[in-house]
Amino acid sequence: MYLKKIIYKRDEVPSVEKYPFSIPAVRTLEELELNTPITFFVGENGAGKSTLLEAIANVAGFNSAGGGRQHSFSIHADEVPLAPFIRLSWTKKIYEGFFLRAESFYQFASFIDSIEDPRKYSRYGDKSLHEASHGESFMRLFQHAFNKKAIYFLDEPEAALSPIRQLSLLRIMKELEPTAQFVIATHSPILLGYPGATIFNFDETAITPTTFEETDHYQVTKLFLENPNRMFRELFQDLDT
Ligand SMILES: Nc1ncnc2c1ncn2[C@@H]1O[C@H](COP(=O)(O)OP(=O)(O)O)[C@@H](O)[C@H]1O
Ligand SMILES: [Mg+2]
Repeated sequence: MYLKKIIYKRDEVPSVEKYPFSIPAVRTLEELELNTPITFFVGENGAGKSTLLEAIANVAGFNSAGGGRQHSFSIHADEVPLAPFIRLSWTKKIYEGFFLRAESFYQFASFIDSIEDPRKYSRYGDKSLHEASHGESFMRLFQHAFNKKAIYFLDEPEAALSPIRQLSLLRIMKELEPTAQFVIATHSPILLGYPGATIFNFDETAITPTTFEETDHYQVTKLFLENPNRMFRELFQDLDT
């Protein structure tokens, strides 16, 4: 465990009417305590998970468009408006790690390709991350680049991964857990099941701790898989057919 607490300097915010301070979950945020090596952010689309994760990763020293600390790669303006208002409290400060968004992985792979250093692929399985499917190269990154004493910020890593690969990721996380820390924004009911993880739910009023079974992701998926037809009847009932 490295990162212990996320503190929001709400008193210093210029205006709660403006993005990103206006996001409901951010508005009421005071602090989040990370008591387990694995922390998940869950919540509806637009609830503010990526905004907060990006700010935390940025304050921790990782590039806002994803990638490790040594990569000055950026695919969008490097502006993280929430970052100046986030303070991180560390048990032990760590510089190794990674911030990765599934959505910017393609650009990250291209960035590695563009580096002049002949050893550029050494951390990624010795070949271009483009020489594989999205999911395969994502796994290669997890398997090769992930160092044990490190902190990893991942935004929807499941986007590239089949269910089986998501299980593989859980296994990699377990292997790294004794010495690594993960903060992951996810919609995956598979990833969320990781034993002993802390889950923070982002909703229209606050960010609150929850359990795997209490998440919408678990409940909706369970209901659906138990009886897809029942769900379709409800879902489609008011449509004229
Ligand atoms: N650059 C921006 N300017 C204004 N609003 C934004 C910007 N980026 C995101 N938002 C809004 O902030 C909210 C939170 O977005 P985001 O953190 O991406 O949510 P999540 O990751 O939980 O789906 C959303 O309502 C989104 O539309
Ligand atoms: Mg997001």
